[in-house]
Parts: sequence; C-alpha cells; structure tokens
Amino acid sequence: MGAMSLNELGLRVLANVDRDRGDYADDLLKVPAADYRDPELFEREVEACYRRNPILVALAVDIPNTGDFTTLDIADRPIVVVRGDDGVARTFLNACRHRGAPVASECFGHGRRMTCPYHFWVYDAQGKLVGLPGKEGFEGLDVEGLIEFPTAERHGAIFATLTVGAEMDIDEWLGDMASALEMLQLHNLHRYDVETKLPSGNWKATADGYLDGYHLGYLHRNTIGGKSITNRNTYDLFGPHVRIGFANKPILQLRDTPVEEWDKYSAFSLVHFIFPNISISGHPDRSLMLSRMFPGPNVGECTVVQYQYFRQPLEGDAALAEAEAKRQTYADVTYDEDFVTVMAIGRRMPALAATDDVMRFGRNEMGNQNLHRWVADLVATL
Ligand code: FES
Ligand SMILES: [Fe+2]
Repeated sequence: MGAMSLNELGLRVLANVDRDRGDYADDLLKVPAADYRDPELFEREVEACYRRNPILVALAVDIPNTGDFTTLDIADRPIVVVRGDDGVARTFLNACRHRGAPVASECFGHGRRMTCPYHFWVYDAQGKLVGLPGKEGFEGLDVEGLIEFPTAERHGAIFATLTVGAEMDIDEWLGDMASALEMLQLHNLHRYDVETKLPSGNWKATADGYLDGYHLGYLHRNTIGGKSITNRNTYDLFGPHVRIGFANKPILQLRDTPVEEWDKYSAFSLVHFIFPNISISGHPDRSLMLSRMFPGPNVGECTVVQYQYFRQPLEGDAALAEAEAKRQTYADVTYDEDFVTVMAIGRRMPALAATDDVMRFGRNEMGNQNLHRWVADLVATL
C-alpha cells in the first residue's frame, strides 16, 4: 500500500466517484463529548501523543545548512532544532543550563553559536557548552551542553521524541507512511517565510477537521470546496498516520483518458496527516501547505501554524505576491470556516458532555476513527 503511485491513487479516487461513496471503515465510532473537554485526559493525551512518540519538528529544508536552526514550543517543551557542523539535525531543550533562559529566539535562524542573552553562555551547533564568562566562578560545573532529545531525519522531515533518553524507532513509527512522504518529495521545497498563526479549539476537534474528507463540499462549498466532489475519499491508514485523497470535479472528464495523461493536480487533492499534529496538503511537484497544531495551554484551545512551501525559490515580486495570496486564502478559509466551527463546537461540549452525548463518526470518516483509536490506545499505555 505504501508504495502506491500517484496514478493508482487517482484511479482509486475515480473508482470511488463511480460507486458514489468513499472508502469505508467497518463500523460507526462514538467518542464521548466529555473526552474533548476533560483537562486530566488532555494532560495524558499531550504526554502520550506529543512527548512519548516522535513528532515532526521541522522539514529538512527548514534548516538545510550547518548552523541553521528553528525554534518551537510544543507540549510545554520549548525546543531548538539545529543542524550541526557534521550535518546532523539535533533537537535540544531551548533552555540555558545556567538558569534556563532561551538560547535561541528566532523562529528560523542561523549561527555557528547559540549565545544565551542573560549571561552569555555559548553553545555550539551540536549543543555543546563552549564558553561562559567568568568561568572561574563555575569550577566543578556539572553540565557539558544543552539537554538533548532523540532526533532522526527521514524523507525530508526531522522528527524528535520530546522525552530525554526515550528510545526512538522512527522507521517503525512511520511504517508505510515513509513511502508516502517520499512521494511528496519534501526535500525539494522552498518555504514562504511568512507564517500564519491561528487560534482554534480542542486539538482533537481541530485534527478532526484535517482528517475529514466529508465536510469539504459543505462547510467549504463557497471557497475551497467548490471544485470538490465531496465524500468520495480514499483513506490510507499507515499506523496512526493517514493519507486522504479528495475527488475534484475535473476527474469526471477523465474516464476515457489514460491516468498517465491526467492533470492529477486538478483531478484530485491529497492531504497527509502525520500523527499527532501535522497536515500536509498538496501534490508532489506542486506547492504544499504544512499546518501544525500546538495543543493547549488548556484542553479547549490549540494554535495552528501554517506555512506555504513552493517548488521554486521565491524570487521576484510576482512569486512573492502569489505566495502571499495563497497564504491569505488559506488563512481565511481555515480560520473563518474550520476553526470558527471547531471553537463553536467547543462551546457546546459542556452541554453535550452533561447529557452524556457522543461525537459520531461515520464509516466514511475513516481518518477520524483512526485518530481517536490511536489516541485512546496511546493514552492507555501510560
Ligand atoms: S541563564 Fe543563560 S547565561 Fe545565564
Ligand atoms: Fe476544512
């Protein structure tokens, strides 16, 4: 399944259009409304899903060169991901070993050294403490460098497990998602450097939107869903990760055209969900949007950060204007339509939970079902 080609995916999407339904799970799934608003469960989800297993912390192209770094603050773990002099990407707690100040502050930056602004302790790109003013006063110092998290780079993406000393088997964790990521050619991308940062509600309810092929022609009917033949989705489940195929109206004209000759970009759309918090939408050879969910600080909140990536360097006013237009379009759609809806759902959760009601996932909502099963299973292992 993992090595499935884009042509085969296109044919599966068309077959679903022709039988008037998407791929189906075996049964309905019910998830208690209370599971979206229980603060104690939320803390366990964050621990189980965001700290005990690998999460995608950067794309390789975000830090292509030695000394490049990116910072992010996820699941109460402020981190800096740095490419060392040896070319290896490492993830550190972004906290000085003196008294905890951040050693890097830019979202994306570059430097041979990271210098803590408080008392100028200096770390190299491998996280090693290489200098501190007034060294004599620290005789017997018991640290050699920043606190490091297990990190691995695969298929153009960098993953870290945000627990010190955790065992990390990235290949097992990705499974057949590996070949899906490989197909996306993440190495061949250029980031548009303007981020979109949006508030949303509960992280699972937000993820439910990313995993849901069902709503496109309804909630988004006047925007990005206008071209869609909704609810004819293909779902590939790769362990906790999911690839979703969406049918677009032009596919109706392609029945008599060999799939090799299709304009696949207009015929169908793709979303890759990398558990627990990454959505990549777009095709190989085309631009991609990468969305990251940052859970919390409370059970009813998350923040989503989106970046647009292109296949050519963004040079010149026209390219930048196109990138900005795309960024703005998706910022508007995801906020005004998706996240406003998720937050409205959140305001109803107390009443729904009070009546012991449930969220209902149809057989057509395979991606969502997979999410909730995996979250529950991982939480159960704590
Ligand atoms: S806290 Fe970093 S140098 Fe003092
Ligand atoms: Fe949506």
